[in-house]
Amino acid sequence: MARDYKHYEELGGAEGRDLFFRPARHSGAQLFGGIQPTVRFGEEPCALADLSMAGIGFFSKQTLLAEERAPVSISVGGRLIFQADAEVRWCEQKGSRARVGARFVNRQLDLDAVVGQARLASTLEAIAGSRRRKIDPVPERYRALSMELLCLLRRTRERLDELELQVGPLTEARRDELVAEIEPPFFEALNPIWLEMNEIAVSQELRSSDRKAVKEFTALTLRPEFMDGPVWRRSTEKPFGYPGDYKVMLAAYGDPAGPCSLYGAVLHKVMAWRVGACIRGRKELMRAALERELGRGESSAAPMRVTNLGAGPAREIRDLLSADLLRRPINVNLVDQDAQALQCAMDQSADQRQKHSGRATMTGLCASYLDILKKGRLYDQIQDQDVIYSLGLIDYFKDASVRSLVRGMYEKLRPGGLLALCNMKAGPRSLYLPLDLICDWELIYRDEAQMRAFAKGLGGDAGAPEVDVVAEPSDRVLMLFVRKPHAAPEQ
Ligand SMILES: C[S@@+](CC[C@H](N)C(=O)[O-])C[C@H]1O[C@@H](n2cnc3c(N)ncnc32)[C@H](O)[C@@H]1O
Repeated sequence: MARDYKHYEELGGAEGRDLFFRPARHSGAQLFGGIQPTVRFGEEPCALADLSMAGIGFFSKQTLLAEERAPVSISVGGRLIFQADAEVRWCEQKGSRARVGARFVNRQLDLDAVVGQARLASTLEAIAGSRRRKIDPVPERYRALSMELLCLLRRTRERLDELELQVGPLTEARRDELVAEIEPPFFEALNPIWLEMNEIAVSQELRSSDRKAVKEFTALTLRPEFMDGPVWRRSTEKPFGYPGDYKVMLAAYGDPAGPCSLYGAVLHKVMAWRVGACIRGRKELMRAALERELGRGESSAAPMRVTNLGAGPAREIRDLLSADLLRRPINVNLVDQDAQALQCAMDQSADQRQKHSGRATMTGLCASYLDILKKGRLYDQIQDQDVIYSLGLIDYFKDASVRSLVRGMYEKLRPGGLLALCNMKAGPRSLYLPLDLICDWELIYRDEAQMRAFAKGLGGDAGAPEVDVVAEPSDRVLMLFVRKPHAAPEQ
């Protein structure tokens, strides 16, 4: 019978340079993360490159000679975390610096212990430093309002915890009933406070260093109070490694809070329902626009081709397909860098697509929008589209990136086709406080003029497009519509 393991006589060792075993080396950045240790060889300060139990690699301003010996030390925040005598093994010039490899001669380095020491030293440094960090740049009125909000949140938590104890374990249905009664007066109390705070935080009078202080202050004082609300926590922790994943979006579309306290469920409702109103608003705006586009091309038997960039759960498509009758067949191409988001969008609209027996088809591309719009890998696979849109993507991009996105989208449109892009609206009523300050969910907020500017210069000789900017009902998101002109009739 064939063996699926080796006998001892068949086991070999390494070959070539690997014959000479060297303990594993770990890069300084990997070992210490954000901590910057100070390294000295003798008196000379050096930059750490890597470490092993037997030696150290560093960059030195001076060229060192092989076999040169000196004490080497590593410290963090002024605290010595390792010291040994070291001998230079090799030294190579790299640009203006020398890259040096040295071995420890009188002791070995315990990596775990050194990393542990570094973390402790860095923590102690941070605690000492936080005494020096003043909250002076945070406007006084903002501080007072924060305390008012903190008291409201803590009082509410206390009362709701008591209520939960008194009524005993809650079924989900009963908890929903209670939330429906408790959330409106709670939001009524909270809303004026955080609107005023938001107005202060987005004010042009704040310098950017003050804005940083406001953010740190809010994170330290208010953020913990919101973390009982599942969608607040998810938005802050970003478990998929990016903000606004499809599960956060689903909360805004009405997904339940899941297991949490009554207080957590009330907070969840505030984020999902009140903050999320603009998510539902832009979704509805897009659904209506798609429906109009189906009507415009009603006489065509060919499917209307739609591409959705940063599709997430693509709820507007599911809602569009919920209609009993589609005025024209439709093919939707979803693009998202997250395969789970695409799976969710496909699953959630499966029944609706089936209902239209072949008149509604959907494909998905797990790719970056860049691959679709920049000449290269996927560019040629996307045929000209009747509609290209994106909800909740350009808010993350600087102006130059949005301009090139818009140009790329416009190029891929058929004559007469529609491009739609939305962005969070700037201003005193923006969602900067709950998203950026509390959840560290950074977005770029824009006004109507900035949105219109993205369509400037499109069309060239073929004629300028029709441009419109519309706000969704809560007035917190703006949608830019750009219609490509029909080709001019041939002379
Ligand atoms: C805020 S969500 C919006 C989702 C959906 N459009 C909605 O409104 O419900 C943004 C989506 O963009 C996707 N995304 C982020 N960066 C992307 C990129 N570079 N290329 C493609 N998709 C991206 C994310 O995975 C996420 O699903």
